[in-house]
Amino acid sequence: MDILRLQKEAQKKIEECRSLSDLGQLHTVYLGKNGEINTLLQNIKNLSLEEKKTAGKQINELKQSLTLLLSDKKISLTEKQSNDTKIDVTLPGKQFPRGTVHPITIAISEISAIFEKIGFIRMSYPEVDYEYFAFEALNMPATHAARDDFETTFLSTPENKKFGRMVLTPHTSNGQVREMLRVKNPPIRMINIGKCYRPNWDPTHTPMFHQFEGLCVDKDITIAHLKGTLDYFVKEYFGADTKIRLRPHHFQFTEPSFEVDITCTACKGTAVVNGNKCKICKSGWLELGGTGMTHPNVLRAGKIDPNIYSGWAFGFGIERVIMMKYGIDDIRNYYSGDLRFLQLF
Ligand code: PHE
Repeated sequence: MDILRLQKEAQKKIEECRSLSDLGQLHTVYLGKNGEINTLLQNIKNLSLEEKKTAGKQINELKQSLTLLLSDKKISLTEKQSNDTKIDVTLPGKQFPRGTVHPITIAISEISAIFEKIGFIRMSYPEVDYEYFAFEALNMPATHAARDDFETTFLSTPENKKFGRMVLTPHTSNGQVREMLRVKNPPIRMINIGKCYRPNWDPTHTPMFHQFEGLCVDKDITIAHLKGTLDYFVKEYFGADTKIRLRPHHFQFTEPSFEVDITCTACKGTAVVNGNKCKICKSGWLELGGTGMTHPNVLRAGKIDPNIYSGWAFGFGIERVIMMKYGIDDIRNYYSGDLRFLQLF
């Protein structure tokens, strides 16, 4: 075996070696018990005395140089491996995806703030309540046809002698008499925000939705106060150019009762967009919800004398006002969990 050729070949292989395990194999190939160096040393016996001397010297030198090359390479490969796995603490960290506040939550805080500015107190009343507070106290006896308007889910809990069965409240009006009983002596200025339930599922109804209920009771409260407050609210929430109108309607717990409309947010009440009929409202008006002057029987249920006090109430859907404000056409978006929708807010 040509010692010089072996030296060159080994040098090249060690140099090109990229891993510690390959290097270990090279070590075995050259310096191992049955490796190239030992084979060379064994073959020495076939040489002449003169040749033995030079060959022995050369082989020993080769052995030393390969040993050195292998150990140097081992050091550099070990270093490289640890560099590869080292953590660079100066690198910017991974950004975790950030959530957004749900549009309903945003609207709740906006609406609360608007009413708190004019002295209304934010309240929360049960979403699972007795029939009494959801209906009877609101002048809707069990047999009354008006109760059909509030399709209701009943719970299979035992009936309470005084307050009847338990229901998932179909409106936030259940808070009206509860608030009267809590305050006892007017003035009352309440904004009750909560979840309501009616078994419907279509582009404008979900079985669970939110309402905000205003209630104002004091001496000499008139429709003028009601209109003034609604006007203030819609200008704050929808924009300063928004107008309201009241249409006669019927609710058992208010007399007179109205439905409130606002000028359409898309066509500003003109019913025309770019020369075409407005697709959102068709008439220039959008329906906001129900309102009216508190019925004397409701005041009585709240232990308030209707000869001394008068009041008004309204109940509007939160999903609905957001839809009106931003032109959203399907209420189910709120509960679809689709981030593309939720991140718009
Ligand atoms: N509770 C009524 C509804 O859910 C709204 C309303 C509230 C009407 C207060 C008048 C007064 O539709």
